[in-house]
Amino acid sequence: MNTIWTEKYRPERLDDVYGQEKITERLKAYVEQGNIPHLLFAGPAGTGKTTSAIAMSKELYGEQWSGSFFELNASDERGIDVIRNKIKEYARTSTLSKRGFKIIFMDEADSLTSEAQAALRRTMEKYSGNCRFILSCNYSSKIIDPIQSRCAVFRFRHISNDGVENWLNHIAEGEGLTISKDALNLLVRISEGDLRRATNLLQISAATTRDIHEENVRHSANIAKPGDIEIMIKTAIEGDFMQVRNQLYELLIDQGLSGNDIVRQIHKAIYNIPMDNERRMRLVDMIGEAEFRMVQGANERIQLEALLAHFGSDMYR
Ligand SMILES: Nc1ncnc2c1ncn2[C@@H]1O[C@H](COP(=O)(O)OP(=O)(O)O)[C@@H](O)[C@H]1O
Ligand SMILES: [Mg+2]
Repeated sequence: MNTIWTEKYRPERLDDVYGQEKITERLKAYVEQGNIPHLLFAGPAGTGKTTSAIAMSKELYGEQWSGSFFELNASDERGIDVIRNKIKEYARTSTLSKRGFKIIFMDEADSLTSEAQAALRRTMEKYSGNCRFILSCNYSSKIIDPIQSRCAVFRFRHISNDGVENWLNHIAEGEGLTISKDALNLLVRISEGDLRRATNLLQISAATTRDIHEENVRHSANIAKPGDIEIMIKTAIEGDFMQVRNQLYELLIDQGLSGNDIVRQIHKAIYNIPMDNERRMRLVDMIGEAEFRMVQGANERIQLEALLAHFGSDMYR
């Protein structure tokens, strides 16, 4: 069995999109009218943006929906000219679309520069006679005003913890799994309102067992026990640097965590360790600096060691 659960459990209908009722109600009203304006879907990953666009198209067009739905990923395409050409070609081919318009779904629209967005806006106007655009992005603030003002904007929210829990139970039922309370709590905590992540994590955790325990989740999420990270931070603050280094290497080498995972967990753990606010602010600042450098390609081990060394010397600042 190698179906991907995020696809297997992707809701087919707007009514089944989970936890975004206000949005799906409005989208259903468009379906009833048989017409839609350009739409902008903004919000974090794994909250149902693509799912809602597809579900709405299925309801608008029925069986033949895929002939009237064209998906582009702005960050995959090489430049705005490639995008415009593809749109042009698609818009030109006249489908006998029963609604008189076709849909162009553009994912990660916020990865386009503002110049590219300006060009996109002209393209949107040019083809608005027979095409409706649905732009999807994480941050609407990165979309230029002239596009925003031409779209109905929908803000997708993180799914609540209860919502994630219900969703996971729904899949567990479908797959005949049992999940312990601790495992469920951990899945919810790691998922942070992202149903794609929640679903994937559950599938990985279920790869070797039908009875999912906290350990299975921890293992598949590749995360350290929160306690390990907290102990490492405390040791660093106390200044026992050689000990910190051992603890860090244990996480990196023996547990196989990535530097990014560790930095992110340090960031979370810092709020559980008692200290005065000023100090916490300084540490968070350093964490941000290390994370940025690592994303830019700096050596993970050196950055983590430097960060933890700073934690120790921070007392003297
Ligand atoms: N609101 C939701 N209701 C139900 N499933 C969802 C929802 N959001 C995400 N999912 C699950 O996560 C997967 C990815 O969702 P998707 O709509 O592609 O997220 P994105 O907001 O990043 O476009 C879906 O296939 C589905 O399994
Ligand atoms: Mg998406």
